[in-house]
Amino acid sequence: MADTATGTGRSLGAPAERREGRDKVTGSARYAAEQTDPGRVHAWPVAAGIARGTIRGIDTAAALALPGVLAVLTHDNAPRLAPPDDPTLAVLQDRRVPHRGWFVALVVAETLETARAGAAAVEVTYDVEDHDVTLTEDHPGAYAPEEANGGHPARREQGGPEEAFAAAQVRVDTHYRVPPLHNHPMEPHAATARWTGGRLVVHDSSQGATTVRATLASLFRLPEDDITVVSEHVGGGFGSKGTPRPHVVLAVMAARETGRPVTVNLPRRLMPSVVGHRAPTLHRLRLGAAADGTLTSSLHEVTTHTSRIKEFVEQAAVPSRIMYAAPHRLTAHRVVPLDVPSPSWMRAPGEAPGMYALESAMDELAVATGLDPVELRIANEPDADPDSGKPFSSRHLVACLREGARRFDWARRDPRPRSRTEGPLLVGTGVAAATYPVMASPSRATALALPDGGFVVRTNATDIGTGARTVLAQIAADALGVPLERVRTEVGNSDLPPAPLAGGSSGTASWGWAVHEACTRLAARLAAHTGPLPDDGLRADADTAGSADAESDYARHSFGAHFAEVTVDTVTGEVRARRLLSVFAAGRILNARTARSQFIGGMTMGLGMALTEGSTMDAASGDFTESDLASYHVPVHADVPDLEAHWIEEDDPHLNPMGSKGVGEIGIVGTAAAVGNAVHHATGVRFRELPLTPDRVL
Ligand code: MOS
Repeated sequence: MADTATGTGRSLGAPAERREGRDKVTGSARYAAEQTDPGRVHAWPVAAGIARGTIRGIDTAAALALPGVLAVLTHDNAPRLAPPDDPTLAVLQDRRVPHRGWFVALVVAETLETARAGAAAVEVTYDVEDHDVTLTEDHPGAYAPEEANGGHPARREQGGPEEAFAAAQVRVDTHYRVPPLHNHPMEPHAATARWTGGRLVVHDSSQGATTVRATLASLFRLPEDDITVVSEHVGGGFGSKGTPRPHVVLAVMAARETGRPVTVNLPRRLMPSVVGHRAPTLHRLRLGAAADGTLTSSLHEVTTHTSRIKEFVEQAAVPSRIMYAAPHRLTAHRVVPLDVPSPSWMRAPGEAPGMYALESAMDELAVATGLDPVELRIANEPDADPDSGKPFSSRHLVACLREGARRFDWARRDPRPRSRTEGPLLVGTGVAAATYPVMASPSRATALALPDGGFVVRTNATDIGTGARTVLAQIAADALGVPLERVRTEVGNSDLPPAPLAGGSSGTASWGWAVHEACTRLAARLAAHTGPLPDDGLRADADTAGSADAESDYARHSFGAHFAEVTVDTVTGEVRARRLLSVFAAGRILNARTARSQFIGGMTMGLGMALTEGSTMDAASGDFTESDLASYHVPVHADVPDLEAHWIEEDDPHLNPMGSKGVGEIGIVGTAAAVGNAVHHATGVRFRELPLTPDRVL
């Protein structure tokens, strides 16, 4: 349990229930589209029906003739925006159509139904140009970027990896393919905007209202102080709400043009083209080893796509830099700009697709060398970060593998493929490792002690369904040395002290650092204070810098190990996961209940990536074929087996005052590889393209 120097240590780690849980399950929590201001109207976007070209003309007469339609915004009449940093926000500014689904008009109407009918009545004509949306490894448009996402160098090379691979006793040389994947949070991307007395108030479904406010201020040339962005309850984001999205720009435009509060609530089918997607990744993996499994060479090369308007390079080879010791190493990214929607963040960007490829290749190496796949990984455990040479602040991958193997009863496994059958079912088990970097960004917080004995902590954190409010109260209670019930947290409003987004598994570390600091200072002020508190309480502020990896003498990462048991139906080709058991080492766990939810949520998303989730870029239309939940299959309850998430508590002093590493993303990393490796064990066949749907497996 926690042992912070300043607190009672009773709250951190406890399985406290989410404070907004009752509001959410009873429906009293109000989301961005549910702000029923008097006079509120609705807007429905019109999406481009071509993949590349320019708008020749837009006929809005039929839409405007519909009773209840208030306005139709197009590039001809929409407010002019200041040029955005993010080109995907430059909506309704010019005739250019960079991809199918790009918004070309917005219909504002008294009712949602009328707005929708109006959108259908808008007639757009185009000058169509030939498009190219097909990613291939040898695409002539491919180039080597300077950086991959996250500021990582796109290419790293140490030693002579090609020569060492050629000389290796055992060689694995394989290709893997991860399709485009979509973030489909339960709550779609939505915003309600209104102007009141010269102020702009926006309820936005976002992972970070501070950035939304700054972006709107810049686009609409307003002082930030004239804008309030509220993201009180957010029904998931998974990265797709990590940066401001076009819907919020459209809502503000429409509110300004009509003078009414306007809600833009994106229809599910319009989301894949405008909220970002996980870019497809083509992987070439080469692992060279000695006969005893010791890696001598490792090469991970990734080809991915981006749009024509934005360079986004999924950093899928980056996790291979830190996983295993090998004296000769290469990691490299290439990117192909295509006439596709702009990709963006999706849970564990880089790590999720990259570790699928690396951990599948490690399984192939285990088969090639005859080693147990757990032992192969342990045999290649590095003493320090193989890339930077820095020591790890803590690294308990071996402990995760050993503990997982024990709990899963791995020792009883017969390593021979197709060694277990149950009637028409083949049964197999597989293992894979997980990792995710540890980050924290600058954040501010205020702590207030009230005369009634209560405390209020304020920071513009976002609770996207993780329990952020709750865990921040736990951090505060421990730093103050008071019971949890006496601490109230206020989050989700840009009028609060500015704070970074809920993303990169770094929200709790970033906000919590500032909360811890403010509460520690407040505790000191209270200790020095004599007599009753003033009516407006006693207050302390904190402005923390977070941490950047470059500044640290340590390589800081979470680790984990997944164990999967699957059945493969030899009649239907259906793969079902029977059991998923994972063990994580993610620093100190600050709330056992909400951390478990994050872990199993990530594992469930990884299960979807393995078995059911996949998007097809249709070459003819330039559109994603699977654009709704009827065709893009996220796991439902019936798909999710017995899930077990365990963890090893780490005591790591090189992170932040709480000692936490972050739990939002590591659950999805490596899960698909564990499932795929189990399918290989069950069938003896290696499938190298996700998802493992019956048509591929049969
Ligand atoms: Mo996460 S993809 O950093 O929101």
